[in-house]
Amino acid sequence: MKKYKIAVVGATGMVGQTFIKVLEDRKFPVSEVVFFASKRSAGSKVLFNGLDYVVEELDESSFDQGFDFALFSAGGETSLKFAPIAASKGVVVIDNSSAWRMKEDIKLVVPEVNSHVLTKDDLIIANPNCSTIQSVVPLHVINELFGLKRVIYSTYQAVSGSGYKGVMDLKNGYENIAPVFYKKPIFDNCFPHIDDFLDNGYTKEEKKMMDETRKILGLSDLNVSATCVRIPVTVGHSVSMNVECIKPIDMSQLTTAFKNHKDIVFYEGTNYPTPKDVDGNDLVHVGRLRKDLSAENGIHLWAVADNVRKGAATNAIQIAEYLIKENLI
Ligand code: A2P
Repeated sequence: MKKYKIAVVGATGMVGQTFIKVLEDRKFPVSEVVFFASKRSAGSKVLFNGLDYVVEELDESSFDQGFDFALFSAGGETSLKFAPIAASKGVVVIDNSSAWRMKEDIKLVVPEVNSHVLTKDDLIIANPNCSTIQSVVPLHVINELFGLKRVIYSTYQAVSGSGYKGVMDLKNGYENIAPVFYKKPIFDNCFPHIDDFLDNGYTKEEKKMMDETRKILGLSDLNVSATCVRIPVTVGHSVSMNVECIKPIDMSQLTTAFKNHKDIVFYEGTNYPTPKDVDGNDLVHVGRLRKDLSAENGIHLWAVADNVRKGAATNAIQIAEYLIKENLI
């Protein structure tokens, strides 16, 4: 079996560390791996498959080493600067930042939904927003069966979505220490504020969910709105979705489709998933499926996933796995 040389960019961050775990867990065919971060943590060590690796400082010559894939999670600025450098050397970049997601010629991919858009020519591929990834997996099923007309998201997002900075603010809150990263306390609290506010009253996180949902599902006219809320949970985003469809919804057909989906864990009746059920898991957990009594062809559902794995690292590595499987690299 062919093996691949991998660069992990942002290796000391929360998603970077999870890239390492997911590569190990999924037994990704790695020939060699090099870990990059900023000057701050160059020289520190990371552990991969039981061996210590020294973290290198990322610079313009980092990709002169014949990599096949570069997994990026080092923020938008780093991606904007270094992804084109890597791509110019023939490296396939899978980027977890939001920098490339909405650019017209860049593919934004959740493998279960739209891997068919990928070609051999895609050298920078965008990994979507965490809450969006776990939402479009069940939405794609609904769309295929009944056609989506409108989607309203309300999210309950874990602090690990902000990386170690968010987790520290929650941990410190237990000891009554004021937050450093968040504007308001997250311990024993929640706030409808993720990323910066825009002039229209939405936040950037809400706009990401709206724009990225349309792009991934290939539904440029879909009516979609979102309210994104940060909650005092360490790992696991939950999304409540209110969905209206074009055609009447056959609930037993939809239930069967969810039960048979290899990437969905479906919870029936009064059973439902919580963040604690998904920590360390790569699947999307769906429950609370019910008819919306206030709307024709309307339903409610609840989706929970590990935001650092399926919402970030796992999805990126699944994109790489797809490219390998389909001989696109
Ligand atoms: P460093 O440890 O050197 O700061 P998180 O999203 O959890 O905050 O992690 C961000 C990751 O991106 C870290 O590994 C961080 O490395 C890395 N990073 C930040 N800025 C740069 C940069 N300019 N070049 C390379 N890596 C960077």
